[in-house]
Amino acid sequence: MTIPAPVPARFITFEGGEGAGKTTQIAALTDHLRATGATVTVTREPGGTPDAEAIRALLVSGEAGRWDPLAETLLHLAARRQHLQRLIRPALDRGEWVLCDRFLDSTRAYQGAAQGVAPAVIEHLAAPVMEGLEPGLTLILDLPPEAGLARAAARGDTGRYERWPLAHHQAIRQAFLDIGAGEPQRCQVIDAQQSPEAVATAVWQAVQQRFPEAA
Ligand code: TMP
Repeated sequence: MTIPAPVPARFITFEGGEGAGKTTQIAALTDHLRATGATVTVTREPGGTPDAEAIRALLVSGEAGRWDPLAETLLHLAARRQHLQRLIRPALDRGEWVLCDRFLDSTRAYQGAAQGVAPAVIEHLAAPVMEGLEPGLTLILDLPPEAGLARAAARGDTGRYERWPLAHHQAIRQAFLDIGAGEPQRCQVIDAQQSPEAVATAVWQAVQQRFPEAA
């Protein structure tokens, strides 16, 4: 007897380094889904609720080395817990689609791979935060960090993470690629150096493949 695969949550996360074009792609996917009559909640991390946005302000400003890596991990997880309980889970329970700009894979890449927090520590701390929920689909927009940082600088993004050393951003890129390769069911890696239209087409194909009901 074969056990049927669990139905993926209508919870789609977008991941990638700085300047990968997540905002543009989330807007395009929102339009696509709404055109099918779907109700879509669009949100971001860190943030998404007023309290989590207050934590975000602590994380994205100040000196590059401001936070102890474990303290930083805990702040991201505190913001995520609040966001999940107050916004994401209620929206999913109402039957909405939730599109989220960054999620737990960013903690794995930024605090884990770049800042050296052990993966086992991250997973151990994240388990009670997540309570078994995982994104139904994660779209990883991949591009070389030099290109992404240049795009971010051109639009005036000079936050704390953009000021991290290039080696950190290279480790982050590799971590996202490793996550994508390790979880092919949940993750789709998309070349973000293509035109925004080509990326949007790849995103929509991935969504239709994972959620046939969206077609
Ligand atoms: P943004 O630039 O995509 O708006 O995200 C804010 C920054 O927060 C981004 O540079 C990556 C960072 N971040 C982490 O370091 N860990 C996390 O868990 C999340 C969600 C974001």
